Amino acid sequence: MAKYEIHGGTPLSGTVTISGAKNAAVAILPAALLVKGTCRIENVPDISDVRILLDILEGVGAKVSRPEPGVVEIDSSGPINTSPDEHLVKQMRASYYLMGALLGRFGKAHVALPGGCNFASRPIDQHIKGFEMLGADVIYTDAYVDLKPSEFGLQGNRINLDVVSVGATINIMIAASLIPGQTIIGNAAKEPHIVDLANFLNTMGARIYGAGTDTVKIRGVNALKGGTYAIIPDQIEAGTYLAAVAATGGNVLVQNVIPKHMECITTKLQEMGARIINYDDSIRIQSNGHLRYTTVKTRPYPGFPTDMQAQICVCMSRAAGFSRLTESVYETRFFGYCTELQSMGANIQINGKTATVIGVEKLYGATVEAHDLRAGAALVIAGLVAEGTTIVENVHFIERGYENLVDKFTGLGASIRRLED
Ligand code: UD1
Repeated sequence: MAKYEIHGGTPLSGTVTISGAKNAAVAILPAALLVKGTCRIENVPDISDVRILLDILEGVGAKVSRPEPGVVEIDSSGPINTSPDEHLVKQMRASYYLMGALLGRFGKAHVALPGGCNFASRPIDQHIKGFEMLGADVIYTDAYVDLKPSEFGLQGNRINLDVVSVGATINIMIAASLIPGQTIIGNAAKEPHIVDLANFLNTMGARIYGAGTDTVKIRGVNALKGGTYAIIPDQIEAGTYLAAVAATGGNVLVQNVIPKHMECITTKLQEMGARIINYDDSIRIQSNGHLRYTTVKTRPYPGFPTDMQAQICVCMSRAAGFSRLTESVYETRFFGYCTELQSMGANIQINGKTATVIGVEKLYGATVEAHDLRAGAALVIAGLVAEGTTIVENVHFIERGYENLVDKFTGLGASIRRLED
């Protein structure tokens, strides 16, 4: 298993370029199955989740090519198998979007339950409810989901989500794009990648309105045509580099970002003492590494993202005073990294949904294990801050979602290298 070796203590400086958004890419790539024609998708991050997804799409019969770095072309006009490879589907979370795509285009799907980062129990009951409300007969076992039209056929409908779910909002949008009639999703999630998916589908001929608000309307169309689309920059990757600079100190230009998407994160870093300067599509962060305490509660967008919980926790662990960090999306997320941070000297006390983080003078290098993608990224930041050498094990989790992380941090002056066992 690969690991990273990090020698901490160097302030970061220079410029880092953010890649296309992972969570947009893993929705848009399967949504290309809806299109009878070729989709050219640009700004696709080269990460393992994308590679697995492209293997799945090829496996079901789509023609997939990569004409140049960052660009993927998918042609789903030939015959498509509606039972994707179980082994591949189980390797990632977002493979559940194959359900919506295959149901919408072909009226049926047989998809194994997804795998991916298991930092919490991750139910899909709202996805299933959505498919049923769209007129599907659903068999949902502990191994797979099987979808076919009910005796009344597939038909648009009003679907009110019981919880604000990114995944369910996306899956319903994908399926409903080709299902006759109007679908209205109430209590929809508003994350930037939901807007990005809607923009992609609308570019291909879908009629989706209101993405980015809590009510999304989809008028089903008969067919989608091919086209070209570029994925937005990754909010969480950008947030990870910003948090790293805030914690280590330094002066970095983070480019290829949408500053509006970053406000929920940059305002917190400013409160903690970092200086943030917003430009059109980049953000400069300056920090002397001396941060002060803050309070963070994770919430659906535009709140502070749960996917930044672990990274901000590292900033808090070095910040003067008592910080409070409350998780309201995935309650068990602290367990993926807090023990590791404690072994590096962090003072974190967890009480249910809230962690109290008491800032310490120093973190110390240690051998720690990444248990999921974002937890792993946080341990890298901790290693960059710590005195001495840190080994982060199980970095395959990190490489699910961060393109060229080692090269990007090295470009900022960090001492980090990838070691193969
Ligand atoms: C997506 C992101 C993930 C991020 C999360 C929250 C992708 C591929 N993954 O995950 O990185 O951490 O959003 O921003 O985009 N829930 C239910 N029933 C459901 C679905 C969700 O109860 O059917 C609950 C979950 O347990 C959780 C909350 O709703 O408490 C939000 O989950 P959701 O937004 O669906 O997360 P994911 O789409 O899995």
